[in-house]
Amino acid sequence: MKVNEGEMVMIESPTEFADKIGLEYAKGSNQSDKKERGQFFTPIPIAKFMANLAKTNNTHYDILDPGFGTGILTSALIEHQIESNSELKSVVITAYETDESIILYAEQTLQNLKLWAISKGVELSYKLISGDFIASNYQYLSEPAENYDIIITNPPYYKLGKDHISIQQCKELVSGQPNIYSFFLGIGAALLREDGDIISITPRSFSSGRYFQAFRDFFFSKVNLMHVHLFDSRRSSFSRDKVLQEVLILKATKNSSYIPTNVMISSSGGMSDLQNPIIKTYDITMVIDSKSTQKVVHIPINDNEEQVLNLVLGWDCKLADLNINISTGPVVTFRATKFLVDHDAKLEAEFCPLIRLHNVTKMELKYPYKLKGKADKILILKESMPILLPNKDYVLLRRFSTKDDKSRLIAAPYLSAVTQSDFVGIDNAVNYIYRKNGTLNYDEIMGLSALLNCNLFDTYFRIFNGNVNVSATELREMRFPNLETIKEIGNQIIAENNLSNDRVNEIINNMFFKLTPQQKDK
Ligand SMILES: C[S@@+](CC[C@H](N)C(=O)[O-])C[C@H]1O[C@@H](n2cnc3c(N)ncnc32)[C@H](O)[C@@H]1O
Repeated sequence: MKVNEGEMVMIESPTEFADKIGLEYAKGSNQSDKKERGQFFTPIPIAKFMANLAKTNNTHYDILDPGFGTGILTSALIEHQIESNSELKSVVITAYETDESIILYAEQTLQNLKLWAISKGVELSYKLISGDFIASNYQYLSEPAENYDIIITNPPYYKLGKDHISIQQCKELVSGQPNIYSFFLGIGAALLREDGDIISITPRSFSSGRYFQAFRDFFFSKVNLMHVHLFDSRRSSFSRDKVLQEVLILKATKNSSYIPTNVMISSSGGMSDLQNPIIKTYDITMVIDSKSTQKVVHIPINDNEEQVLNLVLGWDCKLADLNINISTGPVVTFRATKFLVDHDAKLEAEFCPLIRLHNVTKMELKYPYKLKGKADKILILKESMPILLPNKDYVLLRRFSTKDDKSRLIAAPYLSAVTQSDFVGIDNAVNYIYRKNGTLNYDEIMGLSALLNCNLFDTYFRIFNGNVNVSATELREMRFPNLETIKEIGNQIIAENNLSNDRVNEIINNMFFKLTPQQKDK
């Protein structure tokens, strides 16, 4: 691509130039290569928003952009720095990129940036490294180095197979199947100077869950969360903004000497209103629950969510404190095919019910209710014993919702009267809640089911979980009201015998707070 340097400096901002170069590159590359490399370039409004989060008080900056692409993030950052920091004298940029076919394009962006900076009186030099950021820097996880003042990144996102070399290299960050983006953030945090900022756009999946536990432990031991931006689907009218629901922008800062007490949380419907986000400041203990060993990140983005979070943080119990357990159903159907019974069998001595995801609906277990091709019974044999449960009362909770489900949490009471059998099979797609050395009483069963199904709990869940999975680990970390309150809810439901969603929500909202207009509308 031939570029007239004089025009470039005069006419185009570096950010727009990088965007153009990105489009140019995209024309010549195929979609599946881009997908494989996790190659999605940041749009201009997001790059500018991220750039504006960086501090602007130094005379010199060392900047890192790992996974450089065509450099739109660094371009926006330099543009913002030069325009808002009159003291700035010099900048050194370090960029990593594994895709050799992009390097020439990246070089053009950096050349343009250099000329533009010089024209503004700022000295700019750069190192463009054609290589793997993780392989070149993972050693800093065990021996952090103070190399950079600002790290800005839109890293690749994809899950790594268990034999991937980076998993060995970054074991400090691994607790289950990792996503490559967490390695970029973890290593980034280990490379920051005191007062340094890391600014990123990544999936929000790291905010909860066991798979990101090691990452959260590492990351939040190195940096403090300062700002989170979320995209709120309810406020966006553009369908293309839907993809943004899965991601978040964050800024975290390394301050070893003091721990900031506040976190800024902003939200916008999408990109068009990104320059006018709704911003609110929260106490850090509200966002990262200090009582939780899991460092789950709560991100409330409206008054309703804030009200729910305030309420829930006043609850002191976890399920374990109530002597209640939650586990995942032990029947993995594809491994248990020889035990599954798919015909209309009647002999309960030999079979017991197999409860599957579709049997669990809000406040109601639908059994028998058989879907074609889905066995609904399981043989009781010596060999199948390890995957059967004693037939007693449980609360069942779906492990997955679909994007179309109105609610992430779908729970039903399971009462042992469903079958004469001494056993029941519970599919792996369902969590079951029980009392280990005893039984859950009927009022506890109904109270817990109502609580899990209500809008309030669904809101609580969404504040920290951006995906459709409902893991037992996450439920163990959630806060619950005390047992008396749970029983009171249960007794009211039992007395009224009205299991409708509306009534369940009314009972719970009346119990915990006066209805807000949003809750009435829900
Ligand atoms: C999501 S894209 C973002 C590009 C650019 N930063 C932006 O915001 O438009 C991530 C980039 O990282 C590159 N990449 C993937 N794995 C990498 C690695 N291990 N080291 C360095 N770069 C990598 C990809 O080729 C891709 O260009």
